[in-house]
Amino acid sequence: MRLHGLDLELTGWFQVAWSGDIGPEQVVPLRYFGRDLVAYRGKDGVVRVHDRYCRHLGASLAHGGCVVDEGIQCPFHGWIWAPDGHNVSIPYQERPNKARKLGTWPVVERNESIHVWFDHAGREPYWDVPDALRGTAQAAEREFHPAWPDGREHATDLRVHPQMVVENAVDPHHFRFVHNTPISPVVLQERVEGPEWRARVGFGKRWRDHSHDEHGALRTDTMNTIDILWSGIGVSVNVEHMREGVRVITINVTPVEDGRSELFATYWIDRSGDEATYRRRLADAKLALPDDIKIWNHQVFLDPPALATEEGRGFRRMRQWARQFYPGDVAGNGPTGIDDTRAPGTEKLEAGAP
Ligand code: FES
Ligand SMILES: [Fe+2]
Repeated sequence: MRLHGLDLELTGWFQVAWSGDIGPEQVVPLRYFGRDLVAYRGKDGVVRVHDRYCRHLGASLAHGGCVVDEGIQCPFHGWIWAPDGHNVSIPYQERPNKARKLGTWPVVERNESIHVWFDHAGREPYWDVPDALRGTAQAAEREFHPAWPDGREHATDLRVHPQMVVENAVDPHHFRFVHNTPISPVVLQERVEGPEWRARVGFGKRWRDHSHDEHGALRTDTMNTIDILWSGIGVSVNVEHMREGVRVITINVTPVEDGRSELFATYWIDRSGDEATYRRRLADAKLALPDDIKIWNHQVFLDPPALATEEGRGFRRMRQWARQFYPGDVAGNGPTGIDDTRAPGTEKLEAGAP
């Protein structure tokens, strides 16, 4: 893991656009993962993403290419490339070129967002993009205002590594300082399953002091909680249940170049109030993230970090989990800090260490 730069070899789903960015039969240039890409919405309405340069003589399909029935047509000599990357037509020759294939990227359009699967080893997707609005009971039972066009923020030219953002899920103590909450929230629940990390965080004294009922079971209500889901380290869903209702926020960081990234944030507010209430709640929902970005954008990645005793387990578990998204499976090549085979109990020594 090379956190002084930005890994261009992370595996997972990464957001590259919003649905509204790619209209019917529209062709757009994209640049992510250190590569030039082209995206278009086919006549069937489905978005495809390919390597940008025509395999004939290298023209950019994103600059003048057009959508035709069979796929995308190059502006230079009219060769047509099918959604699976095969050449299906050379307009001045009877047979297409069977040998050359245009690089093709798996795409999922969900929750008004376009996600691309990236895997350095070229593996097919082995998990799916979560449905942000249907993944938890408190969101599934509500209707939401569409996020497009006002419920989104696109921060570009960042040096924020996705790893720094994912670690938010185990970092309740930054809330007091970055977001001015009177007391730190508490992590109530954590569940890790394959590429998914789920956590519930409770805000306020009631959760701090009375998180469990008289039988020792975690309370099941969700008022003043955030349910966090990380699906890989590129896609996150935050379902926030506050007094005014439920809001769902996705915060997705996508590598662009070595050392540079973009962040896509999307905000859905439930339809419980009038238009003015919606506007105010949307503005409120957007307040927190810029404060986080200010920190992340200037942060360096410490390995190992100096953790307070109560932070140790969460951070180490998170880094261990995140390791699956980095290339290679050997200890030295995972996210650093998680080749931690120290015996349990040694974390005490670490608290407060530089
Ligand atoms: S460069 Fe694309 S058809 Fe010639
Ligand atoms: Fe934060």
